[in-house]
Amino acid sequence: MSLLIKNCRVLIKDKVYAKNILIRKGRIAKVTNKEPKADSVIDAKNNFVLPGLIDCHVHFREPGLTHKEDFMTGSMAAAKGGITTIFDMPNTLPPTTTLAALDEKRKLAAKSIVNFGLVFGATTNNLADIKKAKNVAAVKLYMDETTGGLKVDDLEAICDIFRMSKITIVHAEDYNVQNAINVMIKNKIKNRLHVAHVSSAQELKYAKQNKLSRQITAEVTPQHLFMNKKDIQVLGAFAEMNPRLKTEQDQKALWEGIKNREVDIIATDHAPHLKEEKEMANYPFGVPGVETMLPLLLDAFNSNKITLTEIVRLCCENPAKIFKIKNKGFLKEGFDADLIIVDLDKRQAVRNEDLLTKCKWSPFEGKILKGWPVTTIVNGNIVYDNGEIFDIKAGEVQYGR
Ligand code: DOR
Ligand code: ZN
Repeated sequence: MSLLIKNCRVLIKDKVYAKNILIRKGRIAKVTNKEPKADSVIDAKNNFVLPGLIDCHVHFREPGLTHKEDFMTGSMAAAKGGITTIFDMPNTLPPTTTLAALDEKRKLAAKSIVNFGLVFGATTNNLADIKKAKNVAAVKLYMDETTGGLKVDDLEAICDIFRMSKITIVHAEDYNVQNAINVMIKNKIKNRLHVAHVSSAQELKYAKQNKLSRQITAEVTPQHLFMNKKDIQVLGAFAEMNPRLKTEQDQKALWEGIKNREVDIIATDHAPHLKEEKEMANYPFGVPGVETMLPLLLDAFNSNKITLTEIVRLCCENPAKIFKIKNKGFLKEGFDADLIIVDLDKRQAVRNEDLLTKCKWSPFEGKILKGWPVTTIVNGNIVYDNGEIFDIKAGEVQYGR
C-alpha cells in the first residue's frame, strides 16, 4: 500500500519548501517535487506537514484507573492532538514496577492507535527488575509526592537507580532537582537524567546550570508555559497539578529557557481525572493535555512566541534523540511515516464537548486558538482526519541503545 500526500509545505533546515510526500510500507519513501503514482492520494492543500509529535509524558491510566482514561480513549485524544507517539507513565494500578506488570501493560497498550513506549517505575527495592526490563523508554523515579504513591527518598536507593538505568526520568520539585544532580555528581554517574515538568526559574537553573549539563535534559509542560498560579484562583482544582503552577516570572523564565535552548522537550504530562473527582474536597492533582498541546503551541507560533522549527525540535526531534527512539521524530526519507497536517489559520475554541479524553474537560476550555492539526498519520495510516478517528492499531517503539 502506498499513499501520496500532495501539496505539502515542509520545513527542511529551517526553510519552507513545497513538496509531495510518498509513503510506502509505513515509511516515508520520497519527499519530492514530482508526483509519483500511489494507491491513494490526499491533498494537504498547501498546509504544513510536520513530523507527528512525540509526547514523552502521559498517564493513560491503564490498568486500574480506566474510569479516568484508557489506551483507546487516550490514544484517540492524542491522535486528534497531532501526537503520534506517547510514553506512558508507571503510576497505574498495579504500578509498572515489576516485570509482570510491564508485560500486562504491554498487552493493554496494544489497543493504542498511536505508537507507544512504556516507562518502568523505580521503587526502593526493584533494581533486579529494572535491570531485566526489556525495551523500556526509561525508568521513572518519583522524588516527590504523586498520584499513586511511588515516592523514593533514600539517597542510596536513588543512586543505585541512576546507576542501573541508562536514562532516568525524575519527578523532582524545587531543591530535589538539585538533590538528584548532587547524587549524580557525588557518585560520578555517567547515565542520563531527564527532569520532568520543570516548573520554575529555580528548577531550570538547578537542572541546567551545573557541570553535568550535557547529561541532563529538561522538560516543560504546556500548562506551566500557558498558565500561572493566578489561574488557580479562577479554576481551582482544575488548575492544580504537581508540580503546582508558579508565578508569572517563573512562566516567563520557562519561555526564556525555550529561547536559550535550556529547555529540551515540551511534553503534556496528560494526567486526566474526572470532573467529579476534581470537585471533591481532597481532589487529585493533574490536568489533561494531549488535545491542546499542539494547538496552544501553534497559537503561540501565530503570535510570534515560538517558531515552527522550535516546536518540531522540542516536540519531535529532541524526544526521539534523547530517548533514542528508532526511526521517528523526523520528516525524512526512510523514517516512519508519522506525520501530521496542520492548518495554521484554523481558528477554533477549545470546547469540553469536543474532547476525546475520557475526562472531558480542559483547563483551556473556552480559549480560542489559531492553528490546529487536521490530519494525523501513524505508520502510514490515517488515524485522524477532520474530526474523524480511524481505529488502526499502532505499536510499541524500539530504541537504539
Ligand atoms: O499532577 C500530577 N498528576 N502530577 C503527578 O506527578 C502525577 C499526575 C497524575 O498521575 O495524576
Ligand atoms: Zn506525570
